[in-house]
Amino acid sequence: MNIILRLLLGSIGGSLLTAGCWLGASTAYFPLTRIDLDEGRELFAQHCATCHNVDSQRQSSYGPDLSNIGVLAAQRTPNQSPQEYILTSILTPDAYRAPGAQAAMPADIASDLDPTQVVSLVGYLMTCGATPNYNELTQLAHRVTSKPHETNSSIDFEQVDAGKQLYYGKGGCHQCHSLQALPGSTLKAPSLLTAGNHSQEFLRESICQPNRRLTPGYRHSQIVLESGQILTGRLVTDNEEYVELLVHTPTGLQLRKLKRDQIEVSETGIPSIYPQQQSTMPNDLNKSLTSTEINQLLAFLKTLR
Ligand code: HEC
Ligand code: HEC
Repeated sequence: MNIILRLLLGSIGGSLLTAGCWLGASTAYFPLTRIDLDEGRELFAQHCATCHNVDSQRQSSYGPDLSNIGVLAAQRTPNQSPQEYILTSILTPDAYRAPGAQAAMPADIASDLDPTQVVSLVGYLMTCGATPNYNELTQLAHRVTSKPHETNSSIDFEQVDAGKQLYYGKGGCHQCHSLQALPGSTLKAPSLLTAGNHSQEFLRESICQPNRRLTPGYRHSQIVLESGQILTGRLVTDNEEYVELLVHTPTGLQLRKLKRDQIEVSETGIPSIYPQQQSTMPNDLNKSLTSTEINQLLAFLKTLR
């Protein structure tokens, strides 16, 4: 094992970090552990960027903005170091959720990562506002238990190919889901570009029981207007002044901006906005597709990452 302690990191980092999170190239080798901020940044793009961003100029989707997490993490929990906090947030997202808050962050998000990758990710996030403590990171790596990988060693290409055809054909998945990250491609449904990062169980449940767990941000709401009109769509913005609802119309998707005073208010003063319990995803896929076909779809989805 290559042991190069790059004590220079602090100074190199200083110049590269001022603009935000880590941008430069760095790998620091320690006994048993490699902490690679570049890999951390890449892992972030693959696994986390659908919900979080690290650029405070861009608007976050539904996960908190992490552009200053290196600083905030130090203030979150009293008896934990900032790195421990970030690590725990990744490994057990339920740990600090405010009571009643939606279980928004997938509990299995890191299930495919090995300890070295997880600490590289933590190190990278620390650069968002602060400087990683490499010594501690190497200690933390021992806390990450290596989970058995869902390896790709036994990819069955026939299965994958059949699944891909179902995706574009009989399954109709492409009508709602894009496999790209183009702006706007996630309007109707989440992009499945990195769906393979989810566990088999998660994916199976998403297809066979879409109403059990709705992807945060994609729940539909029904809104009753003062005029008596009823609108149903995805609630995209909800603030004190207005709400924005993405509605399907015969000519396509439309973003309706509704001022608060346009929305009917009940006698008890509650605005008539009703979140729907149902996913807009077809809920009979486990009837219209055979179990062989569902397995083929899963094989295809697992290759997306
Ligand atoms: C599906 C959306 C989603 C994905 C994907 C996701 N997160 Fe989160 N994350 C959230 C939400 C929402 C919260 C707020 C707390 C909660 O409900 O879990 C959160 C909280 C956090 C926090 C705590 C933030 C704070 O201010 O205290 C950290 C750190 C974090 N996520 C890191 C990650 C990392 C690293 C990944 C990728 C491995 C990731 N998240 C993937 C949605 C997501
Ligand atoms: C009519 C539109 C529509 C069709 C068709 C559709 N989906 Fe979805 N799907 C959605 C929406 C909306 C969500 C997000 C809300 C939810 O969780 O149900 C979703 C969620 C998912 C998720 C969870 C994604 C995540 O990151 O949480 C997976 C996986 C998925 N769909 C796979 C499929 C597959 C595979 C097919 C084809 C067999 C399919 N969907 C067909 C609309 C659709």
